[in-house]
Amino acid sequence: MTFPKNFLWGGATAANQCEGAWDVDGKGESIPDHMRAGGLHKRRVMTPMIEPDGYYPNHDGIDFYHRYKEDIALFAEMGFKVFRLSIAWSRIFPKGDETEPNEAGLAFYDKVFDECKKYNIEPLVTISHFELPYALAENYGGFANRKTIDFFVNFATTLFKRYKDKVKYWLTFNEINFGTLPMGGRNLLGILGEDDEQRRYQALHHMFIASAKAVKIGHEINPDFQIGCMLAYITMYPLTCKPEDVLASQELVKKLNWFCGDVQVKGKYPYYMKNYFAKHGIQVDFEAGDEEILQEGTVDYYTFSYYMTSCVAATIGESDDRVGGNLFGGVKNEYLETSEWGWQIDPVGLRFTLNELYDRYEIPLMIVENGLGAVDKVEADGSIHDDYRIDYFRRHIEEMDKAVEDGVDLIGYTPWGCIDLVSGGTGEMSKRYGFIYVDKDDEGNGTFNRSKKDSFEWYKKVIATNGADL
Ligand code: BG6
Repeated sequence: MTFPKNFLWGGATAANQCEGAWDVDGKGESIPDHMRAGGLHKRRVMTPMIEPDGYYPNHDGIDFYHRYKEDIALFAEMGFKVFRLSIAWSRIFPKGDETEPNEAGLAFYDKVFDECKKYNIEPLVTISHFELPYALAENYGGFANRKTIDFFVNFATTLFKRYKDKVKYWLTFNEINFGTLPMGGRNLLGILGEDDEQRRYQALHHMFIASAKAVKIGHEINPDFQIGCMLAYITMYPLTCKPEDVLASQELVKKLNWFCGDVQVKGKYPYYMKNYFAKHGIQVDFEAGDEEILQEGTVDYYTFSYYMTSCVAATIGESDDRVGGNLFGGVKNEYLETSEWGWQIDPVGLRFTLNELYDRYEIPLMIVENGLGAVDKVEADGSIHDDYRIDYFRRHIEEMDKAVEDGVDLIGYTPWGCIDLVSGGTGEMSKRYGFIYVDKDDEGNGTFNRSKKDSFEWYKKVIATNGADL
């Protein structure tokens, strides 16, 4: 058995995908509150107004807001040491630009953290998980506007002060590297209008500054805080060993996977992005003092989501099959299977990724999202036999184990959607990740009752044996 004794086994969620109660107790509207449901071949549409006849799946989520006690008790039954959740920004600052927080919102998370404490579950808090208050996007242009740095810092500082004795592990932004892509402009950066690389990279710069400022302030408030970055890591292989393919994949890896981590861990922009900006006429405005802020606000640990890997070719031929993904699709890898949603399953790639990352950054790593989105069938007796999910996790944990043996400092693992929740990409419920089933369908019908899948007992055993019995 190689996992360290205090390894943080647990699960991960995000407020907008599970809380529901979207307009309760003073909460303001967030970007996901404006998103209608989509599907595998249907993009989610964001509407400027909430349309009375429209279905917005995040509005009721899985009603975690009212059922958190039951859910946390189930997590405790599985033996969770850590529970990753995010804080709905618009529950605390409904429009984002207020100076004083909404007490009812803060009180809710007090109750959630107290419940975790009851079972010795360590909360791991993502400060912002694609949940910008809609008003900040509408009135300020989201992070494209430098003012949004201050709004975020005020939000983070409020949380650090309020929960300084309840929360130790923090992440500033979920999947910050989403910001390099067009779809990230809207969801992550809050750019509702015209979205080009110039605006995106400037907005991303503001996020780096906001994150670094928060890290510094957090450490001043409580030196024991562990504050990390979070990226969507899509390992990319060259499609062939043709040098042009190898080079093309390296180029993309730098831009998509390395750039944001390099800034947040090393505290400065890497040479290859400065070069990319110069070549593409992109001008990222730095204010006086920004370089120091980045240097003073480097993160304590590196976290990432890992669902799949992809392939890159210098030129894509007509016969090359494309595959899907949460951040980036790519060319099909003939050695890998795909999920029902077209994401390539690659457990060995996780060991490779862990070694790559540890070698690059030499700080503790945590996998804060991993899992299989799949359709589950409820049997007549209510049981759910999700052996495909168990198989997915087993094979990934085996490779984590080997990476730890390789010497990687891996400190935790929080599978995504440990309880079924609304899919971020498609808004579906039928794309299920959980050990716990939630009775809600793609139209929002159902009792919202919770039940255990076979993977529930399996994961419980994995945690109880610290990863030895898979
Ligand atoms: C990650 C996000 O990109 O992938 C989550 O951080 C998201 O919010 C997860 O839910 C899985 O993606 P999807 O589209 O299957 O929900």
